[in-house]
Amino acid sequence: MIYKIIENDVYSVGVKDWNRRIFDELIPLPDGTSYNSFLVKGSNKTALIDTVDPTKANELLDNLKKLDADIDYLIVNHAEQDHSGTIPQILDIYNNALIITNSKCKDLLIEFHLIPDEKFLVVGDGETLDLGGKTLEFIITPWVHWPDTMVTYLQEDQILFSCDFFGSHLATSELFADEDIYKSAKRYYAEIMMPFRTIIPKNLEKLKNLKIQIIAPSHGPLYNNPEFILDAYKDWTSDNTKNHVIIPYISMHGSTQNMVDYLVDSLIERGLTVKPLNLTYTDLGELALDLVDATTMVIASPTVLTGPHPSVVYATYLANALRPKLKFVSVMGSYGWGGRMLDQITGMIGSLRVEMITPLIIKGFPKEEDYVKIDEMADEITEKHKQLGIIIK
Ligand code: FEO
Repeated sequence: MIYKIIENDVYSVGVKDWNRRIFDELIPLPDGTSYNSFLVKGSNKTALIDTVDPTKANELLDNLKKLDADIDYLIVNHAEQDHSGTIPQILDIYNNALIITNSKCKDLLIEFHLIPDEKFLVVGDGETLDLGGKTLEFIITPWVHWPDTMVTYLQEDQILFSCDFFGSHLATSELFADEDIYKSAKRYYAEIMMPFRTIIPKNLEKLKNLKIQIIAPSHGPLYNNPEFILDAYKDWTSDNTKNHVIIPYISMHGSTQNMVDYLVDSLIERGLTVKPLNLTYTDLGELALDLVDATTMVIASPTVLTGPHPSVVYATYLANALRPKLKFVSVMGSYGWGGRMLDQITGMIGSLRVEMITPLIIKGFPKEEDYVKIDEMADEITEKHKQLGIIIK
C-alpha cells in the first residue's frame, strides 16, 4: 500500500506485517508491526529513506515500481535488519543508487550485508543533501536504540523521519496515529528504548529547535501532532514515577500466591495502585510496559531446587536489562526445606538503581506472623512512596 504524505513528493512505501507475533525471537507483537519506508522526490534526485524487513522485500519493490521511482540515494538511518534487510535487492535493481548514512551505520551495513565501500557516502551531524527543492538534513541521534542511529529531517516539508525513535509495533490501515496509539507507543518505548532512558533526553534536545509538522517513524503510524509523542517521551524518560507497585510472581502450590494476594489487598487498603503479574500467563511486553513508570517492584517466587522459579529468573533478568526508573525493589516467597532464592534474585538486579525494601521469605504456607510481616512490607512501601512526594489517594 502506498500513502501520499505530501502530494506528488513524499510517499510512504513501506509494508505492514499484520501477522508477525514476535520480534528478535523475544518481544511479543500482539498487534503486528510495520516497516515504514519513505520515498522523497526532488526536482533533480529521488531518495528512499530506509527499507523493510527482508521477508517483505517484494512488497516494497512493487510499491517502488508502481511509482516508477528511480532511486538516486538510499538514506539509511539505522542498520538493524528490519530496516536494512532489503538494501541488497534495492542496490541490485537501482545500480546507481548511493547509500547515505553515518560512519557507524556504514560499518555495520558492511558487516551485515557485505556492501562494497564505494556504494557509500558518509554524512556527519547536521549535513544536508539537496534533492532539488527537497533538502534532507541528517541528525546523529545515537542509542535510539543502537550506536548507529540517526534521523533525517526534510526541511521544506518539516517531516522528521525518525526510524525506530518514536515508533510503535502496530499494524494499522491508518497513516496517522490518534490517541489510541499511546499504549502501543509506550510498550514499544519500554521494550526498545527504555534501557537508554538517560541518553534519550539528549537526543530530544537536539530536535528541540526543529519545526516539525510530521514525525514519520519506521514502525507504526505517523504523527501529524508531534507534540503528543514528544511529550510522552519527555514523561517516560523523566525521573518521575507513579504510585504503582508491580508484583511479577510465580506460585507452584499456593503459598506464594497467598502472600501476593494478601500484599495486593494490603497495598490497595493503603491507597497504592497495584498490579500482580502471574508470569505463567503474562506477556512480558506487559511487564515492560508496567515498568515504565512504576515506583516499586516486588518479585515473588517459590523455591525450585535451591533458587527462584526459572520464569521469575527470566522476568528479573529482563527487568534488570530494561533499566526502568524503579526506586524500590523487594522480594517475597516461600521455600520447603531451604535454598538461596533471595540472594540469587538480589544478585540479578545490579543495573537497577533501587533501594531494597525488607524482603520476606517464609517456610511453607503463610502463618499469622507472616501476614503481620506482609502488612509491615506494605507500610514500608507506602512510607517510601510518601517520602518521594508521590500523592497517595
Ligand atoms: Fe526497527 Fe532497531 O530496528
